[in-house]
Amino acid sequence: MTMDTNLIKTINKLQDAFTAVGVANPIDLPQITVIGSQSSGKSSVLENIVGRDFLPRGTGIVTRRPLVLQLINRPSSTGEVGGVAAAEFNAGAVKEEPSSGVSTPPNGPSSGADEWGEFLHIPGKKFSNFDEIREEIVKETDAKTGKNAGISPEPINLRIYSPNVLTLTLVDLPGLTKVPVGDQPKDIEKQIRDMLMKFITKNNAIILAVTAGNTDLANSDGLKLAREVDPDGVRTIGVLTKIDLMDQGTDVVDILAGRVIPLRLGYVPVINRGQRDIENKKKITVALEGERSFFENHPSYKSKAQYCGTPFLARKLNMILMHHIRNTLPEIKAKIQAGLVKYTQELAQLGDVLTEDQTSQSNVILNVITEFTNEYRTIIDGTSNEITS
Ligand code: GDP
Ligand code: NA
Ligand code: MG
Repeated sequence: MTMDTNLIKTINKLQDAFTAVGVANPIDLPQITVIGSQSSGKSSVLENIVGRDFLPRGTGIVTRRPLVLQLINRPSSTGEVGGVAAAEFNAGAVKEEPSSGVSTPPNGPSSGADEWGEFLHIPGKKFSNFDEIREEIVKETDAKTGKNAGISPEPINLRIYSPNVLTLTLVDLPGLTKVPVGDQPKDIEKQIRDMLMKFITKNNAIILAVTAGNTDLANSDGLKLAREVDPDGVRTIGVLTKIDLMDQGTDVVDILAGRVIPLRLGYVPVINRGQRDIENKKKITVALEGERSFFENHPSYKSKAQYCGTPFLARKLNMILMHHIRNTLPEIKAKIQAGLVKYTQELAQLGDVLTEDQTSQSNVILNVITEFTNEYRTIIDGTSNEITS
């Protein structure tokens, strides 16, 4: 079993156990946000992390409203957990053999009954075709902003229910631009900035600061903004896109080594699908395979290929989530224990005893936490050299 599947299973078990005893959302999981210049590849990065084609992407200002994407784990009707799509949050991320499991195309035209999307603005309508989800995002963007490149801070809320995801929120955001085009207001730069600030200022926001590898890092709008809200760099990951488009003989090795603008959590170089790939509807699985082979065969990267690409980015995110959850666990554990004691006392005063059912529910939670802690330790021991914190 891969690490990511374990993480998904254990955390979901934990969330379920809590829900069973009436505690909603015990773990305030971080939100993953993307910032950077327009067309640096933000939407593409998010999509690769989720492992599904559903976000509008392209040159020019495509993302014009925030998209708040909630992934919600829901056991499949067949009881299967995990699988290749495994949020590809996991993007083949944590598999020992990155190429191995990528056999089931996670993005068929229709995803089956176990996986669907729902928009807040169309309650009750289930979208099981991810192409239709993208069309609806485009339509709803136009509805609030007009077709002529206008923007709006009002988010589109989309939930994706699937057995293969970790219950988690990701936020796609418009890019930073400087010169108004089309129907954009004169102060477009400030408006977008304010919009982004709302999302990235939150302490539990993980910031993916996206910069195209073929542009100068010193000019990175994303890094600059991230630094304002996260000066110590404890929740900012640098993502370098378009490595495939860099001039021959140039690479990002100095940046990765922290010799240009050091970043505590480091940088991850990735390759997303290019405009032509989008037009040709290149599958995400095929693209991930191409990304892997690019890094493995490139003279500058082949010696450190395991630290390159979407799977490594997903793994880094997993690690950050683990740290976050680990830090929250003692608090959760104490709460449960206190609750259990109080509960037992109250019932004893009523001259009753705790029913077998109630005791076992509380024990389930404690067991899951212990299980998680043990598993966490194994994972950390195995990979701790890969995270710089
Ligand atoms: P956003 O505006 O930052 O959300 O960027 P998008 O994800 O919409 O991508 C903008 C354009 O850049 C699209 O045409 C993508 O196909 C292209 N693109 C993004 N990342 C890469 C990459 O790593 N390599 C190549 N060749 N093209 C990319
Ligand atoms: Na774009
Ligand atoms: Mg975008």
